[in-house]
Amino acid sequence: MPATAQPDRTDPSADWWRHAAVYQIYPRSFADANRDGIGDIPGITSRVPYLASLGIDAVWLSPFYPSALADGGYDVDDYRDIDPRLGTLEDFDAMVAALHAVGIKVIADIVPNHTSDRHAWFREALASAPGSAARDRYIFRDGAGENGELPPNGWTSIFGGGAWERVSEADGTPGQWYFHLFAKEQPDLNWDNPEVHEDFLTTLRFWSDRGVDGFRVDVAHGLKKDMDAVHADLDTIHRAELFASGEHPLWDRDEVHSIYAEWRKVLNEYTPPRAAVAEAWVHADRRAKYASPEGLGQAFNFDLLKADFDAGQFREVITKNLGEAAATGASSTWVFSNHDVVRHATRYGLPKGSGWEGAGADGKDWLLNGGRPAEVDAALGLRRAKAATALMLALPGSAYLYQGEELGLQEVGRIPEEYRQDPTFFRNRGVDVGRDGCRVPLPWEAAPAAGSSFGFGSDGAHLPQPAWFKEYAVSVQDADPGSTLGFYRRALALRHELEGPERLEWLGSEDEDVLHFSRPVDRGQWHVVTNFGTAPTSLPEGEVLLATVEPEEGKLPADATAWVRTAL
Ligand code: NOJ
Repeated sequence: MPATAQPDRTDPSADWWRHAAVYQIYPRSFADANRDGIGDIPGITSRVPYLASLGIDAVWLSPFYPSALADGGYDVDDYRDIDPRLGTLEDFDAMVAALHAVGIKVIADIVPNHTSDRHAWFREALASAPGSAARDRYIFRDGAGENGELPPNGWTSIFGGGAWERVSEADGTPGQWYFHLFAKEQPDLNWDNPEVHEDFLTTLRFWSDRGVDGFRVDVAHGLKKDMDAVHADLDTIHRAELFASGEHPLWDRDEVHSIYAEWRKVLNEYTPPRAAVAEAWVHADRRAKYASPEGLGQAFNFDLLKADFDAGQFREVITKNLGEAAATGASSTWVFSNHDVVRHATRYGLPKGSGWEGAGADGKDWLLNGGRPAEVDAALGLRRAKAATALMLALPGSAYLYQGEELGLQEVGRIPEEYRQDPTFFRNRGVDVGRDGCRVPLPWEAAPAAGSSFGFGSDGAHLPQPAWFKEYAVSVQDADPGSTLGFYRRALALRHELEGPERLEWLGSEDEDVLHFSRPVDRGQWHVVTNFGTAPTSLPEGEVLLATVEPEEGKLPADATAWVRTAL
């Protein structure tokens, strides 16, 4: 047993996160109470009844801190405040109270790898001399070349281009370089500096004291770096195959876990202990450490998100991840969509092999060339997305949903350049269209008054909504149990009813394109059948609780999932 205070396992709410359905809100694109085109905190509060009607257990809010939005808010100016465009701390408290009142927990996004270049620390670093304590909170180095005119090494940013930016010293002369794994407006912090450690502990306490129930930890695998490493193959610095070693200079280094051991002590000071989930794009074999009880407790598993809609791939991913979770005592996590990837209703409508970033051989050409081009079979994509989601919601572990997927929203391909926001678009012009397409504000109303952005905001949304968003509006689906929204509500409600031991048994199927598993529930078994193939498949005899496509003569059609309860 570590010396940290251990969570009280007798408190039923202490483990709420193990099987939670968590709904991700991208605050600037969710609901806009002051109607200025940017979603805000009071907007979220105004939609608490909607969130409650969905049947989710928690919301995870992407960053809501003051930010210049160089990277959608993941460039944080001040970790202990709210962006004035989104509201105030009082608004935040009111939102937390309203969510808690309907039993929904709140997860905040914490961004420890980098601050924004407008953060007080970075401004102080720029005003201070090389070698100063202020510079030591970041990663500053002298340049190479005769006059320091070259970057210290050739490492690249994962948003494209170099990972070093040169600064002007206080006297105006060209000076040192600072390191940024992401955009140049996101200088990396130096996690060898004790002050950085202390400050994040203060931030964890600040939000925990305000009632936040958990944290999503951005780039959790990137904090510790060996900046002096000489890497032979600089072009491949971010390639996934290098991640398996634990000795990569920039990613997933073993030392990073000492940070999360410190965090866990603080999170366990609270009752119930605050939850945490790591965003760690690491090799599957190295994920468990992030999810250990001495660490963050949970880590995102992106394997299902990266898989094709394919029975074999799904089964392999599920088996491996449940095995890992069982071995470490963590709970597994599942996710298909978030603010960084092409929506799964669109991905599954692309030709097979297009990949999880939605890139075909031509590199997201379909997105660059049009709104909803012919290559995307939106109906098929949505049908498969519902089948995949129904399968996911039946798995042991927690499920992360992304705002708009409950409406069946498709990715938005055509966004005029003047509205684009994602730095990946600008740093990889013509190659990578970026992530704005999944961040377009939600359509609440089908028939907006002129310029009212489908009930989102009165002066047009900060990312323009296409006319076809109308079909997907909440108002269109709200009263229709046969809608995508109706399906999510039913599935989430049943998921609560069916909660049982975190166990799953695969059952044989004659067809290799069909997955069938069962889980023990009160007085029976919960069968889940997903048909990835083309021919209809038989269902076990029992009560069909849910089907993403109506069975015909007892058979489940292609690209569909059914839940069937059988009595003992
Ligand atoms: C991961 C976040 O999900 C993404 O949106 C962001 O750009 C990077 N981390 C950098 O913070």
